[in-house]
Amino acid sequence: MKAAFITRTGPPEVIQFGELPDPVPGPTQCLIRVRAVDVNPIDVYWRAGMVPAPITFPFILGRDLAGVVAACGKEVRHFQPGDRVWCSNLGCGPRPGSFAELCAVDEDWLHPIPASVRDEDIVANALTGITAHLGLVGRAQLKAGETLFVNGGSGGVGSCVVQMGKILGARVITTAGSDAKVKLCRELGADLVLNYKTQNVDAAVREFAPQGVNVWWETLREPDFERVVPLLALRGRMVLMAGRDAKPVLPVGPFYVKDCSLHGFAMFNASAEEQRPAADAINQWMETGKLKARIDRVLPLSEATAAHRLQEESTVQKTGVLAGKIVLKP
Ligand SMILES: NC(=O)c1ccc[n+]([C@@H]2O[C@H](COP(=O)([O-])OP(=O)(O)OC[C@H]3O[C@@H](n4cnc5c(N)ncnc54)[C@H](OP(=O)(O)O)[C@@H]3O)[C@@H](O)[C@H]2O)c1
Repeated sequence: MKAAFITRTGPPEVIQFGELPDPVPGPTQCLIRVRAVDVNPIDVYWRAGMVPAPITFPFILGRDLAGVVAACGKEVRHFQPGDRVWCSNLGCGPRPGSFAELCAVDEDWLHPIPASVRDEDIVANALTGITAHLGLVGRAQLKAGETLFVNGGSGGVGSCVVQMGKILGARVITTAGSDAKVKLCRELGADLVLNYKTQNVDAAVREFAPQGVNVWWETLREPDFERVVPLLALRGRMVLMAGRDAKPVLPVGPFYVKDCSLHGFAMFNASAEEQRPAADAINQWMETGKLKARIDRVLPLSEATAAHRLQEESTVQKTGVLAGKIVLKP
């Protein structure tokens, strides 16, 4: 099969596109013919060697896939050849990545694709959608009527958090870095969208939510507690999910006297069982048109190097060149 893989970590140019042996599914695995994958910032960190975890080479990149079951191991119970399926959480632990024509995946990690949902749309909301659901529902326990602030609503995770916040009945404030992206965030349903480059975000948040923000979702890798804590409401929750090297100062007094809490998490720590409610919700909300995918561009898988370069520029170098996910097709 053709795959996009690395034999050492480094810049995007270390990615090779070539032949690797076809995977052979184990008894509880399905062999998937991959139709679409997407790029996530975590792919960039692994390829660049920024994640202190052992890698076995050749290492196939990619976390998410959408495809069709081509064959099933003897003990597979819930899927059969011809079923359309999606999954996340590949390319970590013992699981090879998704950037290939074929992939063997344990059925526990697979979810059906609703008939009306396209492969590229479901894959674009796979890792990001599961992350948004785990954080909003499992960690922050967002309630209808609460105010949710999403720092970075135009991004992969942020655009899912904004939409899910609205689905869950919250008042949603978010930020974006250009007028075009402000417009896109309004289309996602946010009640108040602020251009963080040209507007006084904190003043506008105070005006919109005088009692404070109930849930602050931080997508930046440099969280600023000295800024956020004064903007939190009584019993405010802050979700932290990025910034491996960040060491911000925490103003403890103003934080604890308001009964605030911090909720850090990494979606890859959630088991298949813990992720299933998130996947079920994503399926239901995408089928009913409540949750939409934001795709910047679709490229052939052979362009994986260019795709990584773009993702790195956009997320790590913060050029904001992307307005949505990059989807790749084998
Ligand atoms: N813990 C987990 O389980 C988990 C899961 C998924 C992702 N992550 C991490 O979460 C981070 C975000 O991922 P992503 O896929 O959403 O990345 P992304 O698509 O690149 O989004 C980054 C966002 O940051 C915004 N931004 C940049 N500078 C900003 C500033 N100064 N103020 C406000 N917003 C700013 C961008 O806005 P503009 O483009 O509009 O400027 C964009 O919306 C990454 O570091 C990723 O590794 C963690």
